Amino acid sequence: MSVYQPGVLYPLSEGIWLAEHEMKLVGIPFRTRMYLVQLPDGDLVMHSPIPPNHGLTEAVWKLGTPNWRIAPNLHHHLFQTPWQELCATSRLLAPKGLEKKRPDLRIDGTLPQDVPPQWAGVLEAFPILGNPVMKESVFLHRPSRSLILTDLAMSTAPGDHWILRLYGRLNGLHGKLGVSHMLRRFYKDWAAARASLDAILDQDFTRVLTTHGPLIENGGKDALAAAFSWLKP
Ligand SMILES: [Fe+2]
Repeated sequence: MSVYQPGVLYPLSEGIWLAEHEMKLVGIPFRTRMYLVQLPDGDLVMHSPIPPNHGLTEAVWKLGTPNWRIAPNLHHHLFQTPWQELCATSRLLAPKGLEKKRPDLRIDGTLPQDVPPQWAGVLEAFPILGNPVMKESVFLHRPSRSLILTDLAMSTAPGDHWILRLYGRLNGLHGKLGVSHMLRRFYKDWAAARASLDAILDQDFTRVLTTHGPLIENGGKDALAAAFSWLKP
C-alpha cells in the first residue's frame, strides 16, 4: 500500500515531485507513478505522466510549464494526449518504435539521443540496450542523486493486493527490487544489456525511484545490481 494519495502531487526533494495513479489490471489494483522534474530554465519534465485532474494540473502549473514529456519505454505511453492538449508547447520524447504503436501521438524526439541540452546537469538518459520489447531509457536526476526506473525493475510490498504479493513472491521481487521472469525473457542481447546496466551502475546515485513499488531511499545502487545478478554476458 502506498503512502501517497492517487492523483496528488508530492514533493520528493528539491526540483523533483511525484504523483501516483491507481489502475486495475484484470480487476487487480496496482499503482503507477509519474515524476516531475524542474529544469534550470523553469520548465518541467513529466516522466510517464498519469491522467490529469484539476488539482494536479493546478499544482503542476504553479511550479512551471510542463514543456517536456517522456514515454520512457514502449509500454508507458498512456495519458500523453490529455497533457499535450493541456500544454500545446510540450514536446514528447519516446523510444524508436512508439510511432508505429501509437500513430496518433505526436512524437517530437527519440530517446535517448534527442534529450535537449537544457536538461544537462539535471536529467540524463541512459538507454537499456538488448531489449527490443521494452526499449527503456532510465533517467538520472543528478541534483538528488536519484535514478528513475520504469519497468526495468520493480517490487511488491506487504500492503499490496494478495495476487500482486503472490506475483512478487513467484518472481523474487516481493519486498526487494527485481525483474520478473517474463521481463527477463525480453532480453535478447545480454552482453549489450549488461554493458548498459554497468554504465548506469557507474553513475553517482544512491536513491532508486521506481514507477511500480516502494521507492528505495538508500542503497539503491546495490539493490539494482542485485536485481540484475542473473544478467551475465
Ligand atoms: Fe509499467
